[in-house]
Amino acid sequence: MTHAACQFVTPLCFQALSGHPVHTELLDSNQEQSMGHIHLARWADCLVIAPATANRMAKMAQGIADDLLSTLYLAAECPVWLAPAMNQAMWRHPATQRNLKTLQEDGVKIIGPASGEQACGELGPGRLSEPSEICAAVLASKPVQTEPALKILITAGPTREALDPVRFISNRSSGKMGYALASAAIAAGAEVTLVSGPVNIPAPAVKRLIQVESAQQMHDAVMANIANQAIVIGCAAVADYRPAQFSSQKIKKTEQNFDSSLQLTRNPDIIASVAALDHRPFTVGFAAETQDVEDYALSKLRSKGLDMIAANQVGLTAGGFDSEQNALKVFWPEGEHDLGMTDKQTLAKQLLALIIEKYHEKNST
Ligand code: PMT
Repeated sequence: MTHAACQFVTPLCFQALSGHPVHTELLDSNQEQSMGHIHLARWADCLVIAPATANRMAKMAQGIADDLLSTLYLAAECPVWLAPAMNQAMWRHPATQRNLKTLQEDGVKIIGPASGEQACGELGPGRLSEPSEICAAVLASKPVQTEPALKILITAGPTREALDPVRFISNRSSGKMGYALASAAIAAGAEVTLVSGPVNIPAPAVKRLIQVESAQQMHDAVMANIANQAIVIGCAAVADYRPAQFSSQKIKKTEQNFDSSLQLTRNPDIIASVAALDHRPFTVGFAAETQDVEDYALSKLRSKGLDMIAANQVGLTAGGFDSEQNALKVFWPEGEHDLGMTDKQTLAKQLLALIIEKYHEKNST
């Protein structure tokens, strides 16, 4: 709801009648935490702006982003519909008609306006279309899903291996690559389960989001959700080792006889466990390497029994971890393909297309 909309109907009333939370502020600490404006834009299947005033149309045509709705519009990659509503003279004004043309050229679909008696008492075009007409127009253009959605499970982010209640061993994974893969899979029509370590980015609107901390928890969550998955992609940076002992109290630096060496024990290998299942999904791993990327990636492809592996060069200057961009060299038993340096969203779409192609190839033989 825009601030102007709130003058007509209170957000509380709108929330009670719709049964859904109402978003009004661009920078609301609560809303930003749970579903920021970028996440809202990614979450939506489509954006319907109804009613759209002359002012709203002018802002959209100019790309002004000074409130939640205008920001949402610029961030949205989904189809956008506009149902204009305004005085007939305002609708006919050349400025509004110019903005209308710009918006149509930008791909915005227009519903109405209807013609007739207006709230101000005048007659003419500018009435908001009936809600049923708006719904019908939007639903009519929804693509019909003909095949059951592909089930894809993705792991993302780092794991944390606790030493004591306040300290842990972890790594630099931000979750960006795995979350971009989840978004690309949603856009491709898949039913996505995302098993994520602790990250500070909003999650895409996956079917199932399972948040975990440790490698053992990630392993258990993956195994509990593996049934009927067509594809599993292990993008998480999983700790290979965890402290052999967890101290239930904070370890004190003054402790007598403190053994400064850290004993570690192996964590389960999640992606190898998935690949070892009897009825295994198409299993894709990642390889994060600072050197000899190709050799190590091929050795992991074989030793973990994977269908495919996406290798990235990582390091303090190389990208990969916690960067906006990445490049991947993808290997499968019969071939390889380079995906050049680009933003993680684009890279995720390219990698997912390759994974789905190889998945179908394997299942057709
Ligand atoms: O999250 P970002 O900041 O966007 O960074 C992205 C990334 C660099 C983390 C990502 O592109 C990546 O490379 N992820 C895999 C990191 C990793 O742990 O690689 P690895 O070479 O150590 O592991 C090989 C494969 O085994 C991976 O698929 C990993 O998920 C899996 N693994 C590893 C250990 C373990 N105990 N269980 C596993 O499943």
